[in-house]
Order: sequence, then structure tokens, then C-alpha cells
Amino acid sequence: MTTSQIRALFAVASRPEVVSLAGGMPNLSVLPLDAVAATVQHLVKEHSAVALQYGSGQGDPQLRERICEVMALEGIAAPAQDVVITVGSQQALDLVTRIFCDPGDVVLCEAPSYVGALGVFASYECEVVQVPMDEGGLVPAALAEALGRLAAAGRRAKFLYTIPNHHNPAGVSIPQSRRAELLDICTAADLLIVEDNPYGLLSFDAEPPPAIRAMDPKVIYLGSFSKTFAPGFRVGWALAPPDVRDALVLVQEAATLCPPTFGQHAISAYLAGQDWRAQIDALRDLYLERRDAMLDALRQELSGIATWTVPDGGFYIWLRLLAGVDTTAMLPRAIEQRVAYVPGAAFFAGGGGADCLRLSYCYPTPERIQEGVRRLARVIEAELDLAPAVRTPVALVRS
Ligand SMILES: Cc1ncc(COP(=O)(O)O)c(C=O)c1O
Repeated sequence: MTTSQIRALFAVASRPEVVSLAGGMPNLSVLPLDAVAATVQHLVKEHSAVALQYGSGQGDPQLRERICEVMALEGIAAPAQDVVITVGSQQALDLVTRIFCDPGDVVLCEAPSYVGALGVFASYECEVVQVPMDEGGLVPAALAEALGRLAAAGRRAKFLYTIPNHHNPAGVSIPQSRRAELLDICTAADLLIVEDNPYGLLSFDAEPPPAIRAMDPKVIYLGSFSKTFAPGFRVGWALAPPDVRDALVLVQEAATLCPPTFGQHAISAYLAGQDWRAQIDALRDLYLERRDAMLDALRQELSGIATWTVPDGGFYIWLRLLAGVDTTAMLPRAIEQRVAYVPGAAFFAGGGGADCLRLSYCYPTPERIQEGVRRLARVIEAELDLAPAVRTPVALVRS
């Protein structure tokens, strides 16, 4: 595991004068905070003997029932006994990788892929093979090709990690017909699928397509309350076939004894007492307004200089700069001009994405988004005017 230079830059990027289009922090401004406060107070006053106590390694049974109701919105019919609660879906991915992977094992994932997943795979010393995407997500022919190459080398992948809805960072979703095709390829190759779906319920235009797990109960499905409620509770889950579920409970107990009891009870009470579906609608409206603000700004400021994806949900837009500007090298200059993004290279395990970047529209106001894109456009234009030989490094932090 390595520290990244980007991390140091983000300390600077969090200053208020910088418009950060970098982080993927959920927007909490439409949460019913009074109701959440009342729920928390009630839990402490009336249920402290349970809510402040250790709990089961698999997680609270009542919350697991409620999670099944949430997953039913994406076509999944599963029993609560196959759900394991985790510390965010990040821990679910960590535990799944811990169960399946030894150092040197191959994991397949999309190119680009979620930086937190790449971090997990690196920490277990996996070999990451990234498979190209297009505007419909993971490309089936490219997956078949990657599997063929591995087989020809006498190797097998342990699993395919995929984010089918509102991909982080690519901002695209896999259409239903392609999901079936991908599933067929994986079934033929006897390849396990790990489906990571924190953004599925944040679809703007239509109902989310059925989860891949809805088509095949062998798929391991990862879910989270971070994007549809609040990440601070750190509650996510894995839905897995019974043998994997048993292993997950064992490693969960070894890792944490039990997932955080208080957060689980708070979320359970919130789901029972609030119209959480209406709440998700309110979040969708908020993110849609911000997506549109960013797309408008991109059209005005970056047409002819960049291409970008048009997300139908979630938090992210993926940009490719047409003149091949190196977005990692450009970042210090962008921060100096008070705008931050994530360079594309961060989402690749073994090189790639140098001319790409991720923008997120989830957190800033529409006005700040417009200002941020305007600043970014000026930085890119300045970059295009400079011959590479005369580019000089800019100090990141000024005293
Ligand atoms: C694709 C993806 N998976 C998993 C996570 C982790 O979410 P959490 O651990 O908060 O549930 C994130 C967070 O940004 C994400 O974007």
C-alpha cells in the first residue's frame, strides 16, 4: 500500500476558497435532521441496553429484514439470513477479498474502477486486471477476451468486481441486455461476480434496472446506506450465498467482533419511522439539479476541449481531455486556480487514464459547480497553450 500525492493535495483542496469537484461526499442537506435527532435520542433513552451494547457478528436481524425490503426495489428476493452487515460496503469488499484472495491472485474489474476497491485489492496483494468500458459500462467482448488471455496463461480470476449502476468514476450504467450477456460469460467461465451497488437507487430518469444478483443468486451483492441516508453511521452489507455468508460472519467477528450496533439501530428506526422512499426521491431531485448544472457548464466551457459521460444517476462525470493533457500534472495548477478534481490515473491499477479526470457534482451548490467548471476550463486552456517543455511545477502549498 502506498500513500498518494493526491491525498496531500486534497488537504489544500478542502480550503473554502477551492471549489472541490473532487470528493464524492453525499449531500446531507435534505436529510430530516430533526427526525434523525429524535430517533437517536429515543434510542439512547429507551433502548440503550441493546443499542449501546455489543451485537451479533452478522448484524441486527431486524435491520437485515429491512435491507431485504430495500433490495427488493431492485428485483432481489433474498432471505435476511443471507445478509451480513458491515462497516460500510467498503468493509464488505474488504472481507470478500480477504476470504477469496491470496497474494498474487487475479481480480477482474472495470477500467477505470473505484479507487477504494483498488486500495483493497492492493492491500491483499491481488493482481488487478482491468477490463475496458464504453458508454454502456463493462464491455462483454473485452471481458471474454480478458478471460481468454488468463486461461491461455493457465490462470483464473478469483472474481469480477463490477459497479453496474452510475459507476464510480465513469458515470455510466450497464443496460439490462448487457447484464444478461455479462452474466452468461461469467457463468460459462465459472467466474464469481461481486456486484457493488451503492448508487442504484439514485437513478434520475427511470427505475433502476434489476440488479445482477436478481438474475443469479450466486452473485455476491454489496449495498450501503451511505449514499441513500448518511455515511457517518458506517452501515453497509453483503448479500451472499450461504457458504460465503458463513465465512463472512467469521471474518467479520475476527475483524470487528460485530458491526457498529448503534448505527444499525439508528438506521433500523429511521427506516421504520420515516418515509425513506420519499427521502430518496428528494436526494435524487437534488443530485439531478446538480448534474444538470454541471452538464450545462461543461457544454458552455469545455465543448471542443473535452468529451464526457452523461450519468443517469449517482454522483460522477468522467472527462477525457482531447489534446492529451496529463491531468495528474495539471492538478497543482488547478488547485492554485481554486478548483479540484480527481486525476484519471487514480482509477487505474497499472497505468492509464492520464488524459482523464473525474468530476463529482454531489456536494457543491449549482452556482459553485458552474464556477468550478469555469475555473477548470481556464486551467485546461492555459495548459493547452503551454508546450510541455516549458511547463514548470507550481508549489502546492504556499505559506
Ligand atoms: C463504488 C463504491 N463502492 C463502495 C463505496 C464505499 O461506500 P461505504 O463504505 O460508505 O458504504 C463507495 C464510496 O464512495 C463507492 O463509490
